[in-house]
Amino acid sequence: MTYEEALRKLAPAGQGHLLEYYDELSGDAKRNLLEQIDELDLSLLNLIRNGVKETPRGKLEPLGAVTLETIKEKKESYEKMGLEAIRAGKVGAVLLAGGQGTRLGLDKPKGMLNVGEQKELYLFEQLVNNLMEVVKKADVWVPLFIMTSEKNKNDTVNFFARNDFFGYSRDYVFFFVQEMAPAASYKGKIYLEEKGRIATSPNGNGGWFSSLVRAGLLDKIKELGVEYLNVFAVDNVLQKIADPVFVGATLEAGCVCGSKVVAKADPNERVGVLCLEDGRPSIVEYYEMTDEIINSRDEDGRLLYNYGVILNYLFEVNTLTRILDEKMPTHVVEKKIPYINEEGEFVKPDEPNGYKFETLVLDMIHMMDNCLSFEVERDREFAPIKNMTGVDSLESARELMKKNGIVL
Ligand code: UTP
Repeated sequence: MTYEEALRKLAPAGQGHLLEYYDELSGDAKRNLLEQIDELDLSLLNLIRNGVKETPRGKLEPLGAVTLETIKEKKESYEKMGLEAIRAGKVGAVLLAGGQGTRLGLDKPKGMLNVGEQKELYLFEQLVNNLMEVVKKADVWVPLFIMTSEKNKNDTVNFFARNDFFGYSRDYVFFFVQEMAPAASYKGKIYLEEKGRIATSPNGNGGWFSSLVRAGLLDKIKELGVEYLNVFAVDNVLQKIADPVFVGATLEAGCVCGSKVVAKADPNERVGVLCLEDGRPSIVEYYEMTDEIINSRDEDGRLLYNYGVILNYLFEVNTLTRILDEKMPTHVVEKKIPYINEEGEFVKPDEPNGYKFETLVLDMIHMMDNCLSFEVERDREFAPIKNMTGVDSLESARELMKKNGIVL
């Protein structure tokens, strides 16, 4: 793209300021900026033009879960079925590690956080340890796909290499990079993060499958015979990965998708709840539910909308491939965005100063024909690290890890 073409694309959209420092840039920097402008998706700005609107929800109905009680009874047969699938190479795992972990405030990938106390134990390392449990049980390597962003790719790949993949087989680890999206001010002006660089951030975890396909890894998946992918977050240090009991339960139910869930700690807990929306599985955020829905109970007094998701899903690859071209909703989120101000100075704001655009993996659930809701014990499988202290923090996760016998 030439300078003139860039100006013709930007000016009608009120984004001409992105070329303000063009003349000051080196030849390479000019080329990079024009390339970024060429790829820029200006249609995202429509989402914030007249204020941010949330899409209204359809008709909600409860969706029952396979409860802890049932799982206890059927554990053996579920596990057998799951292990058979894993041994046949049908199950892969996808680690979503492209996020920026802004709440933790680290200047490196979240997975590089040391969760140890007396010894070093990194988040990535603990996740690999969790996956090793099933590798040992099934006696096969489970292919592990790791999504990073442009921003944290090198650090992540180098960290795994430096640590000898924490004992995992390198032949079964595949990295891929997710897409980025621009960030804009509240007035709808896209920010520059350097004079020759548009401010971009990872575009959410919803594009994981299309990014995996774009990286050419669908061929690898087919070559390996993988039919199900267990997608999980980088920060839940206690979660089981490629859990044979979960895999077996989903297969036995004949579902194209499964989601691990925990019973809510109280009706108003701020979690996304797995339920039905217009007859299809869906995850609805706590703030999208009325008080009446939140508090509705069955005859035995149990909450009808009781199961919160923990970002651990199993998806059938064939179904993912079929919905590949379907558009996912884009969410607009307020964030702190470092930028170049009108005086040409770099500013790192202390308060949110604009919007980022994200698609979310939870929206994929509504694209599935069915989804098995699979209950897990909160204290054994849910210790997300979102903050340094307080709720869902390094502090609370360490306590839970110790309770589960992990030596820190
Ligand atoms: P979060 O929503 O907790 O976001 O991600 P985050 O970026 O880690 O943290 P904050 O909100 O900035 O503090 C849930 C999971 O999705 C991944 C994260 O790495 C984490 O595993 N994720 C998130 C991506 O892979 N890409 C993204 O663009 C966003």
